[in-house]
Amino acid sequence: MSTEIPSLSASYANSFKIGAAVHTRMLKTEGEFIAKHYNSVTAENQMKFEEVHPREHEYTFEAADEIVDFAVARAIGVRGHTLVWHNQTPAWVFEDASGGPASRELMLSRLKQHIDTVVGRYKGQIYAWDVVNEAIEDKTDLIMRDTKWLQLLGEDYLVQAFNMAHEADPDALLFYNDYNETDPVKREKIYNLVRSLLDQGAPVHGIGMQGHWNIHGPSIEEIRQAIERYASLDVQLHVTELDLSVFGHEERRTDLTEPTAKMAELQQKRYEDIFALFREYQSHITSVTFWGVADNYTWLDNFPVRGRKNWPFVFDTQLHPKDSFWRIIGRD
Ligand code: XIL
Repeated sequence: MSTEIPSLSASYANSFKIGAAVHTRMLKTEGEFIAKHYNSVTAENQMKFEEVHPREHEYTFEAADEIVDFAVARAIGVRGHTLVWHNQTPAWVFEDASGGPASRELMLSRLKQHIDTVVGRYKGQIYAWDVVNEAIEDKTDLIMRDTKWLQLLGEDYLVQAFNMAHEADPDALLFYNDYNETDPVKREKIYNLVRSLLDQGAPVHGIGMQGHWNIHGPSIEEIRQAIERYASLDVQLHVTELDLSVFGHEERRTDLTEPTAKMAELQQKRYEDIFALFREYQSHITSVTFWGVADNYTWLDNFPVRGRKNWPFVFDTQLHPKDSFWRIIGRD
């Protein structure tokens, strides 16, 4: 009997790219494994503003370069993440020389400088950029998230950022990326935002659905409705940060040292149903990225219970395929 494990990305070669969020340490310890199963990578943190541009006149690209070099050498695609976000952006960006709030003019020139430098550096090597991340507010009665970008630049900051990114790399696909993207109220806000960007002629080529879901929800029907709604804008869809936490809202505080049999069962079924749905929409979905490589490391570890692990992926802590892997392995 053959013990050969098929490549996950190869099994989806005719459907969409299969990606993973990575950091530099992993490339040394798990590089071969990553290259076998994934044909897209996203830097989990290493391209964020604070990482590449910590001070006004200082760019630090070592870690981001390592990830891009790793990928390019193996013909793996790279998703760039992210240019404009309210998190992981240094305070200096929003301040003038005297420590007061930066003017619109100063913000525009900084944004342009940042985007030119970062997008320009990887021109031709990054197939898609998350240009703006999480600009929509979760609270039902508000639309735009109240960020410094919005306060200092005004409502057109998204149009500006998309235009600048397009100028810096006309071949890169440009995405608006957000979470809770299947929630019907937030979904409509995201839809309206992207529609208005397109109406204003902004070069938006896709919507990134983060996909931070869990073993109970959102329902397949909610995910389907979100996909259909976004796809109706005639843009590409990427699932950008997929993970299925074994802890739903009710188990938020539950502490376990391994997932229960029930959790594992639910997770397998969810993975099977979710990937069947993605395949159904493969003419719109062009890339599906997990927010990690395997259960040995996830950003969900320790959150919100310190010391607690989570097991959200299709490979276990030893990098072995879980039952979920066999349920999603592509049938191309
Ligand atoms: C997370 C990283 O995984 C963590 O390591 C970091 O401490 C915080 O950011 N939405 C996003 C990602 O767009 O950039 C976030 O990544 C997860 C939520």
